[in-house]
Amino acid sequence: MKVLMVASECTPFIKTGGLADVVGALPQALARAGIDCRTVLPAYPSLQPLVAKGKEVAGFSDLPGGAGRLVQVAAAGMTLLLLDAPQQFDRPGQPYTGQDGLDWPDNHLRFAALAQVAARIGLEGIGDWKPDIVHVHDWQAALAPVYLKQAGGAAPRSVLTVHNIAFQGRFGPHVVKELGLRSDWFHPDGFEYYGDVSFLKGGLMFADRITTVSPTYAREILTPEFGMGLDGVLRARADALSGILNGIDTEIWNPAEDKALKSRFDARSLGRKRDNRAQIAVRLGLDPDNTGPLFCVISRLTHQKGLDALAGAVPHIVARGGQLAVLGTGEPGLEKAFLEAADAHPHMVGVHIGFDEGLAHLLQGGSDAILIPSRFEPCGLTQLCALRYGTLPVVARTGGLADTVIDANAAAVAVKCATGFVFDDVSVAGLEAVIDRVCDRYADRPSWQAMQRSALRQPVGWEQSAEAYADLYRELGE
Ligand code: ADP
Ligand code: GLC
Repeated sequence: MKVLMVASECTPFIKTGGLADVVGALPQALARAGIDCRTVLPAYPSLQPLVAKGKEVAGFSDLPGGAGRLVQVAAAGMTLLLLDAPQQFDRPGQPYTGQDGLDWPDNHLRFAALAQVAARIGLEGIGDWKPDIVHVHDWQAALAPVYLKQAGGAAPRSVLTVHNIAFQGRFGPHVVKELGLRSDWFHPDGFEYYGDVSFLKGGLMFADRITTVSPTYAREILTPEFGMGLDGVLRARADALSGILNGIDTEIWNPAEDKALKSRFDARSLGRKRDNRAQIAVRLGLDPDNTGPLFCVISRLTHQKGLDALAGAVPHIVARGGQLAVLGTGEPGLEKAFLEAADAHPHMVGVHIGFDEGLAHLLQGGSDAILIPSRFEPCGLTQLCALRYGTLPVVARTGGLADTVIDANAAAVAVKCATGFVFDDVSVAGLEAVIDRVCDRYADRPSWQAMQRSALRQPVGWEQSAEAYADLYRELGE
């Protein structure tokens, strides 16, 4: 079984969020399940060194936005097919935004080019390698199923995975012609969406199967509250929709071998987390002698993540004797709120604004608990990393957070299966209440340590979910 993965991000080459982690880990997990994957990615500046090493396998003169070529190269355990279209992708800035922080004005052309190349590989193959399935991720790749259906005939089957329905790739109606889309499909049963073109809706309408990244989110997006305007489309396609939980790469996230840690540890040496906490104190200017719990945040700082509510609850963490370490970047108002909290509570609150992989690992290695008060969360990966590092997740009951954390209620504590704290009310008061529960439990050391051991036992790798994807591909391929 051959699968072409198509995405706009992939760890370790280019990452803005969890999508990259999934796209970087899934092909390797699928290989272990007997699936042969190749991954199409845009050749951003960080991929140019690999472009220089690779072999050109195809050229295209007529993509949206101009010409491009496809370069194949093996790297990080994957076979990559890099779309080298320098005028579109080899520019300073972020994958979706320029140095001014605004969306690139030609994003519709850039990602339609990605999707068109994927569809052409699907139809024509690369040499004698022809995929049975084209598996696309998020709106950036979501037009590929549309182009495949437009081509008709013996196209491979397609799967669209929705990592976050809030991002839909919506552009004005003029792009229909520019992107070579069929104008008679510009209607509500096609890719038209309130008078515009929606890349994600196109994918949802034309992909053979739709998945999302947790069973709970798969149910939630069928409702107006979570569907972000696409719940009707999803209800119409409910038979094609399923939820498959993400895993994490347990080699990258392995506390026994993690070079970013001051002190490496496993289930028998959890006490060594203290050395990592001491290192966090140095990095973020925290009081090293504090004996309360150290909470951390590793996140995009956005409304989705509920961190505005957390900013209001910071004084309560400090009042309870806890400390807070924040690593994140995002909305300027939230960055400012956490920097002000650090000023207001010296040595108790430390903040690093920026993207820093090494610090993310150190925070997982040395914190007692991680706060994830998301308003919605398709899956979430930081709670999975936390479980593996004996850092107890404190999560809102939504999406993949609800599917992966077992709340420390009396019954779960009694049978020693609790792995974290789950709460319902994403508000300052809701957070204060759950922070109280965490602090009370932390004071009961044996009970806290029992929770850490349960957390470490929870499987968080890709094994099961890779099998679920493999089954889905096989069903489709039959
Ligand atoms: P999302 O994709 O919605 O941002 P996830 O929890 O799925 O949320 O994935 C976030 C990923 O990005 C995790 O691997 C997390 O460790 C990482 N991450 C988020 N913010 C930062 C940051 N400021 N520095 C380093 N890593 C970060
Ligand atoms: C999205 C979601 C996050 C999920 C990630 C990977 O960015 O916000 O919940 O874990 O994709 O699927």
